[in-house]
Amino acid sequence: MKTYLVTGAAGFIGSNFVKYILDKYGDNIEVIILDALTYAGNLASIKNELELPNVTFIRGDVGDRELVQRIMRDNDVDYIVNFAAESHVDRSITNPRLFLETNILGTQNMLDCARDAWFTGKDAQGHNTYAPGKKYLQISTDEVYGSLAKDFDEPQPLELGDDVREVIEGRTDLKTYGRHFFTEETPLAPRSPYSASKTSADLITMAYHETYGLPVNITRCSNNYGPYHFPEKLIPLIIKNILEGKKLPVYGKGENVRDWLYVEDHCKGIDLVLRQGTVGEVYNIGGFNEESNINIVKQVIAIIARIMREEPEYQQLLKCSVDDINDGLIEFVTDRPGHDMRYAIDPSKIARELGWYPETPFTVGIEKTIRWNLDHQPWVNSVTSGDYQRYYEEMYGNR
Ligand code: NAD
Ligand code: DAU
Repeated sequence: MKTYLVTGAAGFIGSNFVKYILDKYGDNIEVIILDALTYAGNLASIKNELELPNVTFIRGDVGDRELVQRIMRDNDVDYIVNFAAESHVDRSITNPRLFLETNILGTQNMLDCARDAWFTGKDAQGHNTYAPGKKYLQISTDEVYGSLAKDFDEPQPLELGDDVREVIEGRTDLKTYGRHFFTEETPLAPRSPYSASKTSADLITMAYHETYGLPVNITRCSNNYGPYHFPEKLIPLIIKNILEGKKLPVYGKGENVRDWLYVEDHCKGIDLVLRQGTVGEVYNIGGFNEESNINIVKQVIAIIARIMREEPEYQQLLKCSVDDINDGLIEFVTDRPGHDMRYAIDPSKIARELGWYPETPFTVGIEKTIRWNLDHQPWVNSVTSGDYQRYYEEMYGNR
């Protein structure tokens, strides 16, 4: 029986992770969720899980020392998985301080409370010892590595080493826009307040490992997409706007490239690192699936238009005519300041060491994601009922 403390599990990836582990391990695990329920945290995303006897929800801040100490004292926590963060780059440009507070100081508090709770004494060399089987996992991002150049205008097939190709069963659609990739050895070079805060969190996590011997891992993942994605991020925002017949804001010329990974594949990678990853190691997780923003937006438009024509019962969700769903909706708007050009994760290490690979082809994952959105409009409406309209006006009104 393992007890997980999962922070930020009312958000996008955390909620998917909790579903994944409960599905996989059932009542052989205990799950404690700590979430502050910011604008990005929604209990509707974990409604069914909250009814389970082995799931406990605590509303609170990862930076609240007394609260986290109490949780660690009252429960024999084995795994801490720290998803909690301010996660949106655009918001970090408007309000950097909050990102430093949550992402850096919140992480440091979680690490410190883990150190206190798991500490058992000193070994013969005077090094700290901890209760066996414990691990702290920091959920990080490819953005800590900075920005890569885009070497090709069109995506090229990806060349892989034989050892990695062996693991990546049956995937023939892997592609790239460049010659260079982020490995775990790539120097950290963040360029936005968000990525700088996540980098600092990684550094303090490693400092707790080196200085106090705390058993930690860090995972650095590329852009996720899938169910329960908050519609401030590109893909769910585009889906929402298309259904409403609104313009689709594409920053700059839409040429920036991201490496898209279906969220369930990310959750599988996290579970593997938690259970089998070598303590003290960093693991990159990515989709081998680079695409430019403009191509992503065009694909989403085409899929929604097709579904609406083939399954007209979905047309009741539209606030526009099916004929309006075309590339004419795209509007190029002022670019994000300091916009990173390209992210491209090389996940060879986790493939080689733990047998992980991105199982879901993008064509499959994006269709699932769009259909999930069409079938969960009450969820979309509930998460955008509060401050969302004001946010949208402020972010896009004069862009
Ligand atoms: P999200 O914004 O959807 O969710 C964040 C969650 O954290 C929310 O439930 C929010 O209420 C909670 N939270 C925020 N501040 C808190 C605080 N002070 N105390 C407790 N809870 C707090 O984020 P996400 O997209 O699910 O990302 C989760 C993690 O994964 C983040 O650490 C992010 O940096 C990282 N990540 C995200 C992606 C991605 O594509 N979304 C990719 C790589 C890494
Ligand atoms: O790479 C991992 C990161 O991916 C995570 O660490 C972050 O938490 C997550 O938010 C995401 O960051 P991005 O900035 O890449 O994601 P976002 O969805 O905001 O933007 C994706 C790309 O689309 C980016 O190049 C900016 C562009 N964009 C975004 C929005 C919201 C637009 O062109 N228009 C938009 O309206």
